[in-house]
Amino acid sequence: MSDKLYIFDTTLRDGEQVPGCQLNTIEKIEVARQLEKLGVDIIEAGFPVSSPGDFNSVVAISKAVSNPTICALTRAVSKDIEVAADALKFAKNGRIHTGIGTSPYHIYQKLNSNPDAIIERAITAVKFARNLVAEVEFYAEDAGRSDNEYLARVVEAVINAGATVVNIPDTTGYCLPHEYGEKIAYLMNNVPNIDKAILSTHCHNDLGMATANTLSGVINGARQVEVTINGIGERAGNTSLEEVVMAIQCHKNMPYKTGIDTKQIMKTSKLVSTLMRMPVQANKAIVGRNAFAHSSGIHQDGVLKDRETYEIIDPAEVGVKESSIVLTARSGRAALKHRLEVNGYKLDGTELDDIYQKFLELADRKKDVSDEDVIALVGLDKERG
Ligand code: KIV
Ligand code: ZN
Repeated sequence: MSDKLYIFDTTLRDGEQVPGCQLNTIEKIEVARQLEKLGVDIIEAGFPVSSPGDFNSVVAISKAVSNPTICALTRAVSKDIEVAADALKFAKNGRIHTGIGTSPYHIYQKLNSNPDAIIERAITAVKFARNLVAEVEFYAEDAGRSDNEYLARVVEAVINAGATVVNIPDTTGYCLPHEYGEKIAYLMNNVPNIDKAILSTHCHNDLGMATANTLSGVINGARQVEVTINGIGERAGNTSLEEVVMAIQCHKNMPYKTGIDTKQIMKTSKLVSTLMRMPVQANKAIVGRNAFAHSSGIHQDGVLKDRETYEIIDPAEVGVKESSIVLTARSGRAALKHRLEVNGYKLDGTELDDIYQKFLELADRKKDVSDEDVIALVGLDKERG
């Protein structure tokens, strides 16, 4: 089995449907171009039948980027599929992502149907899409809460109908990592024609498990991951691209290869956050403001001696210039000495002790102590001394 892991970015579809995150076509093109620089394999550009604006954006993105495959979402409805194929007509490589719900909630409550009829609808949709575009991906919505035996029948049927990628979404973010991994393993072992397609993960973060579930899916055989920048998406969001890619990069025993240029991660995160007016939480893994900031004395001392004592990722690898040593009342002498040196003051011994005492008094009053504050402390001391 190949180690190539396909990165399917759905920031512009699952991410963009979040209230307040809507982008206009120009902004979507800017994000798509940056995703191309980042090296994603597939950009899910929208849901063309949902609105004329979304249709036009899929057309415009298809013209603007050429390396990634451009994907358009549909329901298992022929009108949706026709409109999606039309929106993809300028894409160098176009893919239709069609599907239907496979959990009891979806089959009986939402669709008022039955398991066999759902399989028929799935087959019809895939065959119809396959006549219009070269690549068809099928999603089994709410696969996370679907019965594995039934899911295996669905997957076998849609592969026979022409799907080359089958997405197993944990739509409600319900699964635990071992359950999601077992689901992928079950499909890998029980779908007779599984070698004709690849399985894709698509995990939501309702229980904070999206990244763990995605990695568990990959370890058990999935070779495409559906992710968004900064983990944006419905409710608690989708799996975040940066977390999956960096987890794989950090763990050399995970042999999967992606085409991501990790140095573009921070730039992409900032662009998406700004255009979507969606701030990134300070302690967000990889891209949060504090992801490479050290504030306690013990950690600062360690990092100043050897970065790897408290850092598993070199910030430069994700496009962050350097880690930061934040001066607070929890900082030690080593951090203050370092900050002073960065600002051109070399202090040792009692001189440093004196300034350190004054620094602690100031830090108890102020949350963060800036470079200007530190310089002022030295000046003050010189005047008094
Ligand atoms: O979460 C989900 O199930 C989806 C599908 C439409 C792929 O976003
Ligand atoms: Zn989703």
